[in-house]
Amino acid sequence: MATDVHRPVSPRAAQAGPTTQAGPTTQAVPVPQAVPVPQAVHVDGLTRSFDGRAVIDRLRLDVRPGEFVALLGRSGCGKSTLLRILAGLDRDIEGTVLVPRRKAVAFQAPRLMPWKKVWRNVLLGLPGKPDRAVAERALKEVGLDHRTDAWPKTLSGGEAQRASLARALVREPDLLLLDEPFGALDALTRIKAQRLVGELWQRRGCAVLLVTHDVEEAVLLADRVLVMDDGVIAHEQRIDLDRPRDITDPRFAELRAGLLERLGVDTAAEAA
Ligand SMILES: Nc1ncnc2c1ncn2[C@@H]1O[C@H](COP(=O)(O)OP(=O)(O)O)[C@@H](O)[C@H]1O
Ligand SMILES: [Mg+2]
Repeated sequence: MATDVHRPVSPRAAQAGPTTQAGPTTQAVPVPQAVPVPQAVHVDGLTRSFDGRAVIDRLRLDVRPGEFVALLGRSGCGKSTLLRILAGLDRDIEGTVLVPRRKAVAFQAPRLMPWKKVWRNVLLGLPGKPDRAVAERALKEVGLDHRTDAWPKTLSGGEAQRASLARALVREPDLLLLDEPFGALDALTRIKAQRLVGELWQRRGCAVLLVTHDVEEAVLLADRVLVMDDGVIAHEQRIDLDRPRDITDPRFAELRAGLLERLGVDTAAEAA
């Protein structure tokens, strides 16, 4: 069953300390369970099947508040399915999914309504009657304030993706879910957009789960990179490089190569 709220962590439980008990006991003494650390995402035993085939199969995942996690995996392994579940767009699941109430999602296609100006697109779906100023602030944050009154069809690919990010930001998310958001951008625009997401994350402090097929992008941005395979998180790699990251750093290359290997890409052949 999915839920939108965090599991409440009782302050008493948090002070309970170690869970080990000294000596034998004849009485049934309630042993405090391991204290759950507050998480931005807590997923346990998650299964999602299509036509009897489990695309996600008893998957476990925790993301700390403010953590930047990148999710890699071959095409069709279930990354978007997982993201949609976390976004609350797919509830036909088994298992536990705990996510913040305030979350936002941006996809590869910016999904702007062509008949609404950019600023109205940014506010689309927000509860209440939000002010234009709310959209203007978010558009400024993504460097698109000069296009506030533009029609979506007049935006470049990079600008449309910025508008989509602004639409995510006005939700003030504690969890930002990004599904290959730079996939359709040309190389230069992509680098700029990656930089922007890195800056937004540092400024906002929200947890980010970025689905990408680009290993370099994952190592560039994330605190931790996950590789999904066979319906589970099959591998994880902490990226302990200082920011901003330097792709010419030998340790960057090492981490990149290790992940490519995990993905089954022969890096020796790639270099040849
Ligand atoms: N609504 C659906 N109905 C049937 N099969 C689906 C549906 N959504 C996804 N799938 C299947 O689940 C698998 C994982 O898809 P997806 O999560 O989109 O993969 P990824 O994002 O990793 O490329 C694929 O085999 C896909 O065909
Ligand atoms: Mg996908």
